[in-house]
Amino acid sequence: MNKRKFNPKKFIKEKIEELKRKIKDKKALVAVSGGVDSAVCAILAKEAIGKNLIAFFIDDGLMREKEAEQVSKILSQKGINLELWNVEENFFEGLKGKIDPEEKRKVFREIFYKTLSQAVRSYSVDFLIQGTIAADIVETQKGIKTQHNVLSQIGINPIYYGLTIIEPLKDLYKNQVRLVAKALGLPKKVYNRKPFPGPGLATRIIGEVTRDRVEKIRLATKIVEEELKEKEIFQAFPVLFSDRATGIIEGKRALGEMIAIRVVKSEDALTAEPVKISWKRLYRIRDRILKEVPGIVKVLYDITPKPPSTIEYI
Ligand code: XMP
Repeated sequence: MNKRKFNPKKFIKEKIEELKRKIKDKKALVAVSGGVDSAVCAILAKEAIGKNLIAFFIDDGLMREKEAEQVSKILSQKGINLELWNVEENFFEGLKGKIDPEEKRKVFREIFYKTLSQAVRSYSVDFLIQGTIAADIVETQKGIKTQHNVLSQIGINPIYYGLTIIEPLKDLYKNQVRLVAKALGLPKKVYNRKPFPGPGLATRIIGEVTRDRVEKIRLATKIVEEELKEKEIFQAFPVLFSDRATGIIEGKRALGEMIAIRVVKSEDALTAEPVKISWKRLYRIRDRILKEVPGIVKVLYDITPKPPSTIEYI
């Protein structure tokens, strides 16, 4: 899709027509994640097929604070009622003892798609609408990570489920999806929402993902997001390390945990630069993390660009 000539209104009109043509009077399911991509897909599909759309939300226990409630509220204002399945127990069970990044991603994917396929069967849908965007496809093709929802590349055969996959946004880059979201009347907090990975807070935890560790990173995430809301920041998040460091807790030498803060600017997530944050702000974030997140004895700031680093840590 030509970035300069992109016309969101025209795109919306054409996609709605295309979805109508493809889905006809059958049922489709869209898995909503809270992100702008899936929200846009849900609204386009709702416009196209109305009540034949099932908007499905998997509560995996790896979301940020109040995320499920917020998505549900925003979409209900657009006439979309979410079907919410809480399967966090399955995710924590599956992730137990897993420390290898790719293995964790694999477990996440498998449970995610298992849940999705149960939903596909239980709602008897013929189509699955996914919010895959151009950068997802490029990165998966380049073999940088297997993170993305390009089904064929992660060993999922939709035909096995009797499904047809529709990816209405696959030619768009993130900034274009944001223009579409704005044109669809989604609120600013959705169309300007910073990207958040599918496996959620699990990608911000090095080592084992336990409820306790998720709770820590959820608290730290809230702090970082509250303190760094600027538009020019592409992503801002904390990461919990698995190694421990010596510190002083309640006046005594003790081993504690470490959190790194990663703040990057980027156009399309394919490359990224660290953002220069003032010491004053970094100190404020540090102080809040040390005070509000139990057991942390070190807060670090990550200054690496992508490449050679990636944006996330796992
Ligand atoms: P990396 O870490 O590969 O991230 O530089 C590039 C962009 O992709 C996001 N990301 C993910 N998004 N599922 C997603 O939906 C994932 O598994 C995943 N891993 C990374 C990341 O946040 C960044 O915006």
